[in-house]
Amino acid sequence: MDYPTSKEEVLERYSRIFPRSARVTYAPIVGVKAENARVWDIEGREYIDFLSDAAVQNVGHNNPRVVQAIKEQAEELIHFTFIYGFPVEPLLLAEKLAEIAPIERPKVSLGMTGSDANDGAIKLARAYTRRRTILSYLRSYYGATYGAMSITGLDFEVRSIVGELSDVHYVPYPNCYRCPFGKEPKTCKMECVSYLKEKFEGEVYAEGTAALFAEPIQGDAGMVVPPEGYFRRVKRILDEYGILLAVDEVQSGLGRTGKWFAMEHFGVEPDIITLAKPLGGGLPISAIIGRSEVMDSLPSLGHTFTLSGNPVTSRAALAVIEEIEEKDLLRRAERLGRYAKRRLEKMKEEHELIGDVRGLGLMLGVDLVRNRETRERAYEEARKVVWRAYELGLVLAFLQGNVLRIQPPLTIEEELLEEGLNRLERAISDVEEGKVPDEILTKVQGW
Ligand SMILES: Cc1ncc(COP(=O)(O)O)c(C=O)c1O
Repeated sequence: MDYPTSKEEVLERYSRIFPRSARVTYAPIVGVKAENARVWDIEGREYIDFLSDAAVQNVGHNNPRVVQAIKEQAEELIHFTFIYGFPVEPLLLAEKLAEIAPIERPKVSLGMTGSDANDGAIKLARAYTRRRTILSYLRSYYGATYGAMSITGLDFEVRSIVGELSDVHYVPYPNCYRCPFGKEPKTCKMECVSYLKEKFEGEVYAEGTAALFAEPIQGDAGMVVPPEGYFRRVKRILDEYGILLAVDEVQSGLGRTGKWFAMEHFGVEPDIITLAKPLGGGLPISAIIGRSEVMDSLPSLGHTFTLSGNPVTSRAALAVIEEIEEKDLLRRAERLGRYAKRRLEKMKEEHELIGDVRGLGLMLGVDLVRNRETRERAYEEARKVVWRAYELGLVLAFLQGNVLRIQPPLTIEEELLEEGLNRLERAISDVEEGKVPDEILTKVQGW
């Protein structure tokens, strides 16, 4: 094994061995060590992680409770397949997930990533309803496996090359800052809801529709929060036609927004929930939680994986949930989120580049614009802000090309949150003052 000695060497070797389909680069950080909201790179530089590792580290990097659980379990039993055997840890985890989920007496299926959970949810919805059509949202992201990719409304390029599942239709997500119907919140008549009804009148056969897949807050679309009452109205329409609601909590779940599940903010009970990212504290594990009769609709081995229900990842997930409960992290996310949002709103008053600040809990987005009137997306400026933040020691990313993604660990120390926000403001000022050169635009890729 030829362990690299410099950042440049790592980047060069990465470009030789990994295909571009596996990655997207924001800043060249070669992380070698992390603790809570701090990350250190191969050169010993320290960063504040405002990305939580893509919304994975809700309880912080290398959370001691999670590390302890992994060590203890690895010494006892690393794997004993859940398909044939009866390891205890996945049982305890499934029971715990059933306890915290906003679905009555659900059943639980386990997997490895958000994508496979969403694939399972598609199969379950189709099997239970004996219908084929899936409704999804434009700009949604559900993952990269065939099923999840096929219902994703964000990037159609791969699908146009490799093919996709059929019978998938899209509706626009409610977006009060960039309304797809050209309305403003004060005068709108919830055209986003009536559009769904119209879809059933002309284009999609409602009685042949299995499920609507929804993110409670659209993450990769740029932290888009639906207006009050939207999901309640949608659920009424779905119920009228016997269509299931499958809610993707992969990014928004497990305390990120100040509740276990973000859909709880909107008072709607889903039929199916998918979870992954933060569940294993950094280890690969996913879950589908659904109404029992829906979960029982597939035949034996209809959705299972040799490594699912793994004892080590299950123990890690139990430790994540325990940590959220014992440290009262739901309340902490709500409190720190409120503080961060107020601070970002204050920045908006002073920086023309900020067009909108939105989000719930510690799932926040800062929409950068070139012009507040037209709301033209500030693509180049966003890349420059992320680069300058990197130079200042802050891990940051953007979505949709211009929305800064602010998702620190729920456990971030208050001083570190403050310091991260200071660095962010400095990065924004430096970009506004033209201190970040155009040369860096070739270095930051992003999506
Ligand atoms: C909302 C949402 N669903 C699903 C996924 C896919 O999860 P994974 O990358 O673990 O397969 C993601 C990943 O970004 C996501 O944000």
